[in-house]
Amino acid sequence: MGLLDGHRSIITGGASGIGAAAARRFAAQGATVAVLDRNADGAAAVAAEVGGISIPVDVADVEAVEVAVREAAEQLGGLDDLFANAGVGNLKRLDAYREKEWDLLVDVNLKGTFACIRAAAPIMQAAHAATGRTGSIVTMASVSGVRPTRGEAPYSAAKAGVIALTRSAALEYGPALRANCVSPGFIHTPLTDFGATHEVYRPAVDAGTPLGRAGQAEEVADVAVFLCSALASYVTGINLVVDGGSLLPSQQSDPMLHDLLSMMGD
Ligand code: NAI
Repeated sequence: MGLLDGHRSIITGGASGIGAAAARRFAAQGATVAVLDRNADGAAAVAAEVGGISIPVDVADVEAVEVAVREAAEQLGGLDDLFANAGVGNLKRLDAYREKEWDLLVDVNLKGTFACIRAAAPIMQAAHAATGRTGSIVTMASVSGVRPTRGEAPYSAAKAGVIALTRSAALEYGPALRANCVSPGFIHTPLTDFGATHEVYRPAVDAGTPLGRAGQAEEVADVAVFLCSALASYVTGINLVVDGGSLLPSQQSDPMLHDLLSMMGD
């Protein structure tokens, strides 16, 4: 028996990294998965691997998300879970960000999450009214949304917004659905490849993390599975940090992390 037997789950950003790991973990726990991603080929490949469906969509396009989420729910025969995971990052000093770069980071990470929640919630509300079933929305923030890191001003602002947005959703949509957030620390994925092999950054991450290493995509995916499962049936409105302990107070004074940007030569 799987933790998500019979669930119908949408995973955005499911073509790569944490989202692809989530598609595999959700499917392994019994869910039927719809992979939504702007990378059509990558989404199709992951969907084929897990026996699910894929729909190409840019999550920053609110109307397109509305259509894609409706189509996914129709093809799946309903919607129990949304893992709004799609996101993009960047690293440069605050005053070096151009307006276009700010817009991309905020549009994908924050507006994209809003678009996905707004599209999925009414479907879950209708199901709750008809059957009493409670939906689950899990959003993707970051430790950068809790304690900003130098070089990530728009990303940190967007991810802090995701945490607040998720709490708003928990307030407004309960009891039809539970809405929770995950905030990973440094996870080795294509998004963070630059740092995972960097001779200064990688040891700094390891030294600044009580568990002594970067996380794996599956370790975040499993937390999303938990939050969508009945094991989390009384959990809503939380931000669950998955960071190997990197946010603990003793780590904040680590000069290696504080000087990260200058060490990277930017
Ligand atoms: P990734 O780059 O491996 O995967 C991101 C996926 O999102 C890709 O498949 C990409 O095509 C998709 N995507 C990007 N923009 C999109 C858009 N506009 N519309 C639809 N799909 C889009 O990155 P990773 O690491 O798996 O990141 C997933 C989420 O986790 C992101 O929201 C990221 O901010 C967050 N995160 C990642 C951390 C890490 O250390 N890897 C740490 C904290 C948060």
